[in-house]
Amino acid sequence: MAAVKSLPTIIQGGMGVGVSNWCLANAVARCGQMGVVSGTALDSVIARRLQLGDLDGSQRRAISHFPWPEMAKRVLDRYYVADGKPDEKKHKLISLPSLRIKKAAAELLIVSNFIEVFLAREGHDGPVGINFLEKIQLPNMPSFLGAMLAGVDFVLMGAGIPLQIPGILDGLARWDEVQMRISVAENKEKHTFLQKFDPKEYCPADQPKLKRPKFLAIISSDILAKTFVRRASGYTDGFIVENWTAGGHNAPPRRVDRSAPPPEVYSEKDDANLENMRAIGRPFWLAGGFSSPEKVQEALDSGATGVQLGTIFAYSEESGIMSEYKKDVVDMYFDGTLKVKTDFRASPTGFPFKTITTEKAVTNPKVGKERKRICDLGYLRELYVVEGEKVGYRCASEPIEQYVKKGGTEEATEGRHCLCNGLMATIGLGQMRDNGDEPPVITSGDDFTFLDRLSESRIETYSATRVVEYLLDGVVVPDPEPEPEPEPVDQVVA
Ligand SMILES: Cc1cc2nc3c(=O)[nH]c(=O)nc-3n(C[C@H](O)[C@H](O)[C@H](O)COP(=O)(O)O)c2cc1C
Repeated sequence: MAAVKSLPTIIQGGMGVGVSNWCLANAVARCGQMGVVSGTALDSVIARRLQLGDLDGSQRRAISHFPWPEMAKRVLDRYYVADGKPDEKKHKLISLPSLRIKKAAAELLIVSNFIEVFLAREGHDGPVGINFLEKIQLPNMPSFLGAMLAGVDFVLMGAGIPLQIPGILDGLARWDEVQMRISVAENKEKHTFLQKFDPKEYCPADQPKLKRPKFLAIISSDILAKTFVRRASGYTDGFIVENWTAGGHNAPPRRVDRSAPPPEVYSEKDDANLENMRAIGRPFWLAGGFSSPEKVQEALDSGATGVQLGTIFAYSEESGIMSEYKKDVVDMYFDGTLKVKTDFRASPTGFPFKTITTEKAVTNPKVGKERKRICDLGYLRELYVVEGEKVGYRCASEPIEQYVKKGGTEEATEGRHCLCNGLMATIGLGQMRDNGDEPPVITSGDDFTFLDRLSESRIETYSATRVVEYLLDGVVVPDPEPEPEPEPVDQVVA
């Protein structure tokens, strides 16, 4: 059994869509810390990179290492456009995620997740992870397989309670058929909706056993950590304890009165109890506002294995955010006009979501009003019972009349933004619309004070390597303890 010294102090957190891309994760992992690619909507990301002509050749280089060339060829034939599609032409859409996985959709997921992890791992032996969201269940199983084929070391998952995932990773490592219980709204008769995935349907027979990546659950409380220990379908190797100042989606506050403006809605009740975390005896990392060597040291001194960071890496040179949007945000910080809002309406998932409103962002009322509602990526669609065991799909940011026809309420659509299209636009892969390009959605954590120490002027950019050096400067990392032995799990969920 390997010793814990393989566990990194710094985890560059998963940031979707495509913000923590392979370039960022590769740069961090080269420093011996954990680089994490985002697995969210990776099928659309890769399909669009290919349609833009894969000008640096990276995607095709990764595909040339994919173990099943015929599948790789089908994906290339479908999406690759030599020299790139004309600017005025729309991106070809991929099929929307669905309960019954279509073969072509599964193949694109497998290949896409392989590509991103392969590139993140290329040229070094540092640790690489991939991040998924429990809220987006449907693409996950083929995605895990693709990432595992490329040898991913860690799977990190939050935005929900992914108790089923550890067992699914165990099963895929053995090439077993796996299944996931899917959440379906208005399921009054309590039907069980299962999505099944048999990896052997996609690959030649007699495959060697795959490496089972370590599974890290992203949680906001020690109580949830205990739930994973007791009830997850397999072994949870550790935890990311993320607080409400973190970027992206946040856990809802425990206090029910949401009328108070943030940050007042969150209180000390929302802080995880670190004594209880230590008592669990598994590695944990703290996340949300740990972007200084002093905060890293504080986390280590509190018994954490390290910290997970997002925002500081999101504004580094390697991240996927378009440079012009990075610059807008950095300028706002130095002008003193930057505001990070915890928006309780923006995300169709219903989870609080951090936003920054810039001139061009969809959260800017002037821009938002112009955008016509359309749902053509569909990652955040909710499943609901249509009749008996038949399901429908709806999203609170799709056209209102469409949503209401599907049984949703008009009230539920208020203040929602299309995160799927907006986040794709933030990384330069937005769809062209008849009335212009999709506007970006910009998410970040509350803490930007690192900019004072990393960029001496608003035009100075910084690399991911510089971030790692800065964060570990003068930090004393305790000697690793022996790795805990996986314990048997009482209750199997999946
Ligand atoms: C741009 C951005 C996107 C994010 N997207 C995700 C995501 O897709 N999945 C996830 O688990 N966490 C996401 N996060 C959270 C980070 O992984 C990390 O835990 C968090 O940002 C830590 O707080 P910090 O930003 O104060 O460092 C995102 C954060 C940012 C800044």
